[in-house]
Amino acid sequence: MIHFNREYKNFYLETEHTSYVIGILPNGRLMHIYYGAKIPQEDMNCYLLDRERIISPKINGEGYFSDDVILQEYPTAGRGDFRKPAVVVETASGRWNSELEYCSYEILKGKPEMEGLPQLCGTTEECETLKLVLCDKAAGYEAILYYSVFADVDVIARHTEIKNVSQKAIRIQSVASACFDMPQRDFQMLTLEGGWAKERSVERYPLHHGISSVESRRGSSSHMLNPFAALVSAGANEELGEVYGFSFVYSGDFRICTELGQGNDVRVIVGLNPETFSWKLEPQERFVSPEALLVYSAQGLGGMSRCYHDACRKYLGRYNATCKKRPIVVNCWEAMYFDLSEQKLIDFMKDCKGLGIDTFVMDDGWFGNRNDETTSLGDWQVNLDKFPNGLETVIAACHENGMQFGIWLEPEMISPESRLYKTHPDWCIHDENRDAIKSRHQLVLDMARTDVVEYIYNTVAALLTQYDISYVKWDMNRNITDNGAEWLTPECQKEHSHRYILGVYRLMERLTKDFPNVFFEGCSGGGGRFDFGILYYMPQIWTSDCSDAIERLKIQYGTSMVYPPAAMVGHVSVCPNHQTGRNVPFQTRGDVAQMCNFGYELHIGLLSEEERAMVLEQTTYHKQIEPLILQGDFYRLLNPFEGNMCAWQLVSKDKRKSVVTFVNKLAGPNDNPVYLRLQGLSSKEQYCVEPLGVVLSGDTLMHAGIPFLLQQGDFVSRVFHLVQVGCEEEESDERYM
Ligand code: GLA
Repeated sequence: MIHFNREYKNFYLETEHTSYVIGILPNGRLMHIYYGAKIPQEDMNCYLLDRERIISPKINGEGYFSDDVILQEYPTAGRGDFRKPAVVVETASGRWNSELEYCSYEILKGKPEMEGLPQLCGTTEECETLKLVLCDKAAGYEAILYYSVFADVDVIARHTEIKNVSQKAIRIQSVASACFDMPQRDFQMLTLEGGWAKERSVERYPLHHGISSVESRRGSSSHMLNPFAALVSAGANEELGEVYGFSFVYSGDFRICTELGQGNDVRVIVGLNPETFSWKLEPQERFVSPEALLVYSAQGLGGMSRCYHDACRKYLGRYNATCKKRPIVVNCWEAMYFDLSEQKLIDFMKDCKGLGIDTFVMDDGWFGNRNDETTSLGDWQVNLDKFPNGLETVIAACHENGMQFGIWLEPEMISPESRLYKTHPDWCIHDENRDAIKSRHQLVLDMARTDVVEYIYNTVAALLTQYDISYVKWDMNRNITDNGAEWLTPECQKEHSHRYILGVYRLMERLTKDFPNVFFEGCSGGGGRFDFGILYYMPQIWTSDCSDAIERLKIQYGTSMVYPPAAMVGHVSVCPNHQTGRNVPFQTRGDVAQMCNFGYELHIGLLSEEERAMVLEQTTYHKQIEPLILQGDFYRLLNPFEGNMCAWQLVSKDKRKSVVTFVNKLAGPNDNPVYLRLQGLSSKEQYCVEPLGVVLSGDTLMHAGIPFLLQQGDFVSRVFHLVQVGCEEEESDERYM
């Protein structure tokens, strides 16, 4: 998978369908030679080219290879490359000019652990890692680049370690987890933008000369820009064309940028956001950056997404270990908001009995003095006015009605109106010279402090020990202001954002490890922290606070660019929908939510008899298709951002089964029939297509499509099931695989 050619001094990394090649120049600089579709290693020996350049500076006097124009692998600042640097280190003298020279390499079986950070994990059989040591002797630091090759999923995971090898303290001003240059073709940038209740819309735009970037300064990866970007060839679509994906395994401030340079070369930099970061290193200390995941696909956006989905499900640490059991949930948030009581919950649960729902989740409002948004975060003790018998009685009622019990928590937060705040007013993130800024009436706990993390761990652990709680929805409902902390020295203030995230990860690590039977779901005002960092600890994330099925078409479609359906949560909610006021048929609400981990966000007791019957049908059906959601390949067929229709498809890895979901948003008169072209089937096999009752070949379904007529009415959905002829009898009820 990783080879070094001594004669030509190049490193060749290969996955099943891609090659990545790095060369060492005569001056010790690392040159990026190639990343893309797989090509033979031996052909790469004549690619160290450059020509005489007028005006561009050259290291060591004369000769070719100006840093200003070559395709670099890990560029520095102030020594002749005027593009954005991968790393900036300030020495004790305050200088930041730097030049990194190649020193040594190692090829390691498996992947060295990045302590305290979420990451892809692979055994010695599953992956190999190239470690390249670069050094700036004058500045006194080493940059150690790691490339872990996950060949079967076509992913290269990169991160960087900076080591202080000088006698004095140095300060990292920026450090890329991954960086490289390549020649511009006709690349466009594709990113996922959004806001609260409208997360991850797909945006695509041409590169222009200079910088294009997506970033967060919010202390979380954010609703606004996901920590992901792709370089997409101009004509690329879901099935065809070249796509380079860059995803950052991180839940805080990040920056992913591209720079189109003078020679039409494109630089990509993925890493922590240097605007809100710096890190002091004492002699011999190291800093380990978070991880970036690189994917190249020649099969368009769909190909890229499936690589990310597979990597997430197979190698993303905890995710893999916990991805087996996905309860169907009923959550009481939209049914009751803060207005909870023991009797109300018991009545609610009775109505859920016998409907195939696995877990009841008690959302916000059960603790402290919490009757609205203004109080009590941090006081994670049961509100005895609402629950005079503690939680025992409701939990017992939950079990009697055939469900497990789940709970909502927002562990990183503190309300100024709380007992915790009265005891520890200094525990929130604040700037001692200013009034703390509130958002949703709340402040953020300083998770960079070990005593705060310890306290929250003990509080949550006590709850999970005292009560039979099988599910935790972990929320985070505001962004971070007033960055910094009194307890950090002046030159370390910009370490705070990253230290916060490390504290959150420490807490998640401990709680998920110590309570392996509790199922954790991530959430942040809906999908404001939907990233691989959280997914390392928690197998699924509440995709959005918008539960309107028609809005969810876009949100789930966009989210699937990077994250598998198995990481998303979709609930059927009441109509008129609370976020949009829209009315959508119950069937369509179910069909859209069935793409993800499924559940309900409504008052089951207020449903009609007909709807109750549909709930049982939906939960039964969901259990049948769950293996496809957890393990199948996902194909986007019709784009809801571009037209009135949306469709997607799940196909089992053995291509024997498939489920297709189609939604027509607004009805029109005199519509033509639809011929919905599928993907991912075995071309020569025959498939039985239900409910049409026809048998068609994979080729026919992929080229001519499923033929059907549109029904009248707005927001109408259709679901088709495909089973390969000869596989009809196969066991389909093994739910948790
Ligand atoms: C956030 C979540 C919601 C709900 C509320 C409770 O907005 O995304 O699902 O839990 O908080 O306050």
